[in-house]
Order: sequence, then structure tokens, then C-alpha cells
Amino acid sequence: MNSLQEIDARVRACTDCPLSEGRTHAVPGEGATNSRVIFIGEAPGYQEDQQGRPFVGPAGRLLDELLNTIGLKREDVFIANMIKCRPPNNRDPLPTEVDACTKYLDRQIELLRPDLIVTLGRYAMNKYFPKESISRVRGKVRTKDGQRILPLLHPAAALHQANLRESIFQDFRVIPQAIEAAKQAPATPPPPNSPATPSDRQLSMF
Ligand code: URA
Repeated sequence: MNSLQEIDARVRACTDCPLSEGRTHAVPGEGATNSRVIFIGEAPGYQEDQQGRPFVGPAGRLLDELLNTIGLKREDVFIANMIKCRPPNNRDPLPTEVDACTKYLDRQIELLRPDLIVTLGRYAMNKYFPKESISRVRGKVRTKDGQRILPLLHPAAALHQANLRESIFQDFRVIPQAIEAAKQAPATPPPPNSPATPSDRQLSMF
């Protein structure tokens, strides 16, 4: 898979796990192809499955609001999920489903080479810090294998527990600082022969 468009097409046609049988639409992810930051959620919900787009339901509206507070729009960033098809009744993804699907997200990250990965919720945090608890690591940038990761609470948490809303908004404020820090001191040197070179990016975006 050599481009985000190719990943998109592969995901929409994917039958690598049983979730493909129950989906209306697969949800590959979307956003700016030159984004310096990628947001990773858990899995599509009802609205996402209906529309084939990530974060377009109630949690998505809150994500839009959160992005606004730091001067970003969803079109400025790339938004994806750990798995690309909706689990029945929004149950937690199974390890076998994550295993079957992770190649798509991994390749999206390789192609985008973001300065910062923001994980939303426990599931996405687990990809990088499987032994951690979200309450301990949330809101702090960590580097893993040369990649800056910022684990945050999932916006849906604020929809279920109103008292988390303020913390979620506060944690979001770390993002611009983290992007600025990454600009000053990139965590990894660009790999050779990578399809996306820094000159392809709009370095002034943030
Ligand atoms: N929750 C997620 O984790 N992802 C979506 O796309 C929507 C809700």
C-alpha cells in the first residue's frame, strides 16, 4: 500500500475479519494528507458506519469542538481508528479484529509520518503503552520508538461523565505545545526513501 488513497480503497473492500460482514461502510480515516498530527480513536460507531467517516456522531461533534479550542479544524489533521469497521452494538474490539486491521493504521502512520500521535481513549493508548492506565498517562507526551505520543481521554468519556469534560478540554491544550516542541526538535530523523519528505508538508500549518 503506497498511498493513503490505496489504503482507503483496500479498507473499503477488506474482508479480513468477520466485522466486514456486518458493516454498512468501512471507515478508513480521513484528513489532511500533510498533517503533522494524527488522532487515533477506537472503532467506528453507528453514525460512522452509516457514513463511512470517522468521528461524525456525538463524540465526533465534541472532537470538532475540542479541535476548535486549539485553533484547528478536522480538515487540518488526520483522524483514524484502531479498527476500521464497527463492532456489533459498539462492543469492544476483539484482539483478533485488532490484529487483522492494524496493518492499515500502521501503514497510514508510516505514510503520514506525523510529528505527534494523539491517542483517544484506552484502546488506542494500548497500542503504544499496553501496561499503562489511561488515568496515569493522559495529557503527557511520551516518546516511544522515536515517535511522540500523547494519550488523551476519549471524547465520549465526557458524554458519559460530565465531570470529565473540563479535564478533556484542559488536556487538549497540550497539543499545540507538543506540535511546537516537535517542530523545534523532531523526534526521529526522516527515514530515507520515504514517499513523504518534509518538503511535501506544509510546515507552517500550525
Ligand atoms: N468513537 C471512536 O473511537 N471512533 C469514531 O470514529 C467514533 C467514535
